[in-house]
Amino acid sequence: MAKRSPRRALRVRFKNVSTKNETIRGVKGTRDLLPAEVFLWQQVEQDARRVFGAYNFGEIRTPILEQTALFARTVGTDTDIVAKEMFTFADRDSETLSLRPEATASVVRAYIEHSLYNEGRIDKLYYMGPMFRRERPQKGRYRQFYQIGAEVLGSDSPLVDAELLEMLCEFLGQVGGCGVGEYNLLINSVGCAKCRPEYLKTLKQALEPVRSQMCADCQRRSVTNPLRVFDCKVPADQAIIAKLPTILDSLDVECSQHFNTVTSELNQRGIMFQITPRLVRGLDYYTRTTFEITSSALGAQDAILGGGRYDGLSEMLGGPSTPGIGFAIGQDRLILVVNEKARQAAPLTEWKESPTAYVVWLGENTLGPANALARKLRQGNLKVAIGFEPASMKKSMGMANKIGARFAIIVGDAEIADGKFQVKDMANGQQEAVEPDRIPEYIRAKIAGMANSLTE
Ligand code: HAM
Repeated sequence: MAKRSPRRALRVRFKNVSTKNETIRGVKGTRDLLPAEVFLWQQVEQDARRVFGAYNFGEIRTPILEQTALFARTVGTDTDIVAKEMFTFADRDSETLSLRPEATASVVRAYIEHSLYNEGRIDKLYYMGPMFRRERPQKGRYRQFYQIGAEVLGSDSPLVDAELLEMLCEFLGQVGGCGVGEYNLLINSVGCAKCRPEYLKTLKQALEPVRSQMCADCQRRSVTNPLRVFDCKVPADQAIIAKLPTILDSLDVECSQHFNTVTSELNQRGIMFQITPRLVRGLDYYTRTTFEITSSALGAQDAILGGGRYDGLSEMLGGPSTPGIGFAIGQDRLILVVNEKARQAAPLTEWKESPTAYVVWLGENTLGPANALARKLRQGNLKVAIGFEPASMKKSMGMANKIGARFAIIVGDAEIADGKFQVKDMANGQQEAVEPDRIPEYIRAKIAGMANSLTE
């Protein structure tokens, strides 16, 4: 076969790429998060770092791009995620790569690659960042979405499961300064490599007579991976699925004991939960404990987070036998809930991070001292804005108002001659002449005074 010239190969690669000057929009299912909203995202991330840190977790950052085999082998080729939703492509050197649809497999890969395992040690890792799934976009479901997740590697103790769920409840109670309010913890056990095969046999038998009445995916899965039948969302199949035997009834003694200890520990810690025998979660790597937390404040996509134990995952990736458990919170969904709660508590919530001060300069000669003042305030960690064009007093004060600055600081010829700048409190219109060096301290005292009067 004739070899394609590099130039022609490039033309083929960019065949459908428009070169006309029309507007280019964001990719379907992706979103731009603008500063006013990102403020809340940062707050949620800070809460996660604080709470997870208190439980002795350290942050791990893995790449967004991974070999496709990582997810095919662990999440499973029969799952919706791998079979239908991954963004996968052949790289220029023909390697098959995917944008990560989740991060648990990546964390365990990194754990093995860097030999983090060490006899007797428990590793607690958390991560946050974008994930990619080519799903049908709707409220709470995006093609690029964000997860905040955590994984504990190195122990199969049920106390780890209970502590992880306790940490989640702590986080949900504190997040965004208002907590998420009402939520439901659904919990199940999906058994282990020892008791699962027996259950799968029973499940296959139960599916045999009803298979022909089910959707095409269920027909295939009932043969290749019957547990995945429980992931089916087709309404007509739900009545059949509701009558299938559940794995909770087929657990062996060890798995039963493990599950019982997890649930009694949750009771001990005052954590409410609901045992949900058909909760198998849409990923193949799970063993024993699986869980989800749902919120009634969300619509159809009501799972704020999901997780579970994956005691065989390290071995699937060629690593040593290492039990593990973790969760991933859907940050987009969490923000939807927190936003709703915070809106109800509006007076105490600072929605936009407005600048503390707007520096007004009046005439060319005043620009130098005005810039020096702005820099000094910023060095003192105050949020400051300054105009970039010469403007009248009226226009400048209008701008200070528009951006929501708490103080306007006026630097005019008269103020420079006097050695004091006018500091106007936009909240009550009071104005005072203050020496430039004293302005940071003056502003801080005013803000503290306001906070005190709010709490009195
Ligand atoms: P997952 O249930 O596939 O589990 O995803 C966890 C959470 O991510 C979901 O509960 C949901 O809140 C959010 N999520 C999933 N897909 C989307 C989407 N298209 N748009 C918006 N949010 C979405 C995992 O990913 C596992 N890695 C969790 C885990 C960690 N298990 C053990 N360790």
